[in-house]
Amino acid sequence: MPLLNRLRRYFPSIRKKELEPAKAYDQWAEGYDDQPGNLMLALDEQVCSELMSDLVIRGKIVADVGCGTGRHWARLLEAQPARLAGYDVSPGMLGMLQRKYPGAETHLLRDERLPGLADETCDLVLSTLTVAHIDDIASALQEWRRVLRPGGSILITDYHPDALARGGQRTFRHNDRVLAVRNHIHPLDRLKEIAGELNLRIERCVEKVIDDAVRPYYEQQQALALYDRFYGVRIIYGLHLIAPGP
Ligand SMILES: C[S@@+](CC[C@H](N)C(=O)[O-])C[C@H]1O[C@@H](n2cnc3c(N)ncnc32)[C@H](O)[C@@H]1O
Repeated sequence: MPLLNRLRRYFPSIRKKELEPAKAYDQWAEGYDDQPGNLMLALDEQVCSELMSDLVIRGKIVADVGCGTGRHWARLLEAQPARLAGYDVSPGMLGMLQRKYPGAETHLLRDERLPGLADETCDLVLSTLTVAHIDDIASALQEWRRVLRPGGSILITDYHPDALARGGQRTFRHNDRVLAVRNHIHPLDRLKEIAGELNLRIERCVEKVIDDAVRPYYEQQQALALYDRFYGVRIIYGLHLIAPGP
């Protein structure tokens, strides 16, 4: 293991240089679905399941922004949506999704616009573990709001801004190197403020902290220094926003 990575284990405040998301995820794509012991994916499963249990997907139009390899698609397709469209900036991640779901509707994003979705046509905009990668989050949320039907939902999960503000980084291993992806800190209050400006009601907000329940994940990654540093910090959140009904 390179010296700097060994040092980071004991001095976790040493930050890694962050790659732009499209470039980083193109490299991560091949191994993304094979990450046993990835704490964020495990917590996202919990938060997403909690928030999705309130939703009806059958016969609905769903957009998955930052869909990646389609990690949530088995669950979504099983619920029989009328249409499921995936949007992402990484051709590599979309390629992996296409391998799993040949012929799936996917779009490579170049900016915040969601091509192929007319105004007020979408029942659910889902975005998991992606929001902090988006620089202009106000424009992105405005676009998600544009496509939302009256009564429709926006469901977001992501790495918590508190953890990012404490120096947390989204990292992955590639060819024996640890790489980090660029994040932007969008405080939850700011996201809620934008939601208010877009006339979206906050239906639910779920937050989870690093506590004893997740210690085994850090032990397994030999990252107890990080665990001690982040103990008690909020690590992930989920937001369910709803447009006023028809
Ligand atoms: C951590 S992955 C999450 C993938 C999937 N949603 C999941 O939960 O497994 C983040 C994804 O967001 C994508 N992404 C990054 N910046 C984006 C942006 N500005 N708009 C849409 N997707 C973006 C990345 O390419 C990547 O596929």
